Amino acid sequence: MSDCEIGLIGLGTMGAALALNIADNGFDIAVWNRTTSVTETFKSEAGALSDKITPTTTLEELVAAIKPPRAIILMVPAGQPVDDQIAALRPLLGDDDLIIDAGNANFRDTNRRAIDAKGLPFLGIGVSGGEEGARFGPAIMGGGDRATWDRVSHILDAIAADFNGEPCAGFMGAEGAGHFVKAVHNGIEYADMQMIAEVYGILRDGMGKSAGEIAEIFASWNEGPLQSYLIEISGKVAASHDVATDGPLLDVIVDAAGQKGTGRWTAIEAQHLAAPIPVIEAAVVARNMSARRDERAKAEALFGTGPQPLGDGALSIETLEQALICGKVLCYTQGFGMIVAASKEFGWDLPLPEIAKVWRAGCIIRSSMLDDMSASLAENPDRDLMFAPFFADILSNTHGSLRNVVATAAMNGIPLPALGAGLAYFDTMRTARGTANMIQGQRDFFGLHGFVRLDDNSSDQHGPWANA
Ligand code: 6PG
Repeated sequence: MSDCEIGLIGLGTMGAALALNIADNGFDIAVWNRTTSVTETFKSEAGALSDKITPTTTLEELVAAIKPPRAIILMVPAGQPVDDQIAALRPLLGDDDLIIDAGNANFRDTNRRAIDAKGLPFLGIGVSGGEEGARFGPAIMGGGDRATWDRVSHILDAIAADFNGEPCAGFMGAEGAGHFVKAVHNGIEYADMQMIAEVYGILRDGMGKSAGEIAEIFASWNEGPLQSYLIEISGKVAASHDVATDGPLLDVIVDAAGQKGTGRWTAIEAQHLAAPIPVIEAAVVARNMSARRDERAKAEALFGTGPQPLGDGALSIETLEQALICGKVLCYTQGFGMIVAASKEFGWDLPLPEIAKVWRAGCIIRSSMLDDMSASLAENPDRDLMFAPFFADILSNTHGSLRNVVATAAMNGIPLPALGAGLAYFDTMRTARGTANMIQGQRDFFGLHGFVRLDDNSSDQHGPWANA
């Protein structure tokens, strides 16, 4: 006993995969699950790795199986179960023993738990990559005390995905910083998925392409600047065959997207931070609207026939690709902008280039573009991708395509909420003289809220307004 390097609680899909990954990297691990039969099955199915795994039946046994100072990973559902687990575990631990919450926690809960820990070691880490990532190399975003992170970073580096020899595990900052960065990752994940789905809609409804043809288009894009895990799997999803109908599996899937809520947290938090992330927000809204199937069917019957075919040659495949590239850059611009806003708000100094590096492999949003983003963010003092020369060039070269796609889709009744939000963001950003002078006029007219004069910069100015 007492010879395991680490412990893990919660052998659900992600927990089991992470435990196997840890064992596979040579670390002895003690595991515990609320239901003992799950622990037994896990051990018996671990095959060659079972020698590295110590199953335990009580929390006391788990604690006794780990070398002090201990480190125990929690992989239990986010929310109350994490608090309950910490409450059950903490009294059994010594003052040097570390609890690591590796679930998809809301970072505000992690902030609170870091305070509740009252100086006892606690880390909140975001883990991305789904089951396969957890098993063979996820991206890991850590938050808490740097010295506490350093105690376990050799294990986390070893189990993380690897990009050109560099581990995709990084320390993000204090308290809930790791879970915050994971939330932004998920917001970008939602947006990336939504923009791909929107382009799929143009190909299917506007251009009459079959799922097989769409699969080939996505596969070819995966060889170019759009190379990414999400484009790759979208091609594979479109290529999959349904035995029951002998047709594309994609065509028999109900068009209502599920969500566990992490994208929603990001959108809510962006509002608290006043950080503009309209592409991500549009993706969250689109998921909500996808669930409204009955209402959508009713509205289609009432107002018209839904998306219409585009005219011949209205859009080329290359134009669609360029539009998606543009949307993607704008989405990341917003996501990194939100991270900068959180850095200021929470005093975290979140390391933007390091975040882009951690996202290069293992996680759901991994893509070839992230390597360039990491370099650009390191060079660009504004920490704003839009102004980094490499990405400014991309935006200059692709926004015409995005405009063409959004306008053409609009004229044919094809909804593009996320791509459209990207275009509006771009146009708003490059409009030096906006229209909020009208809003300030309205506010002063009805509420004497005051405005700043453009000509002499004097503040707290009021009308007089006509007929006020
Ligand atoms: C990841 C994913 C993962 C997420 C699921 C489901 O990075 O591995 O973001 O953490 O929870 O993909 O998310 P939704 O149910 O919200 O789509």
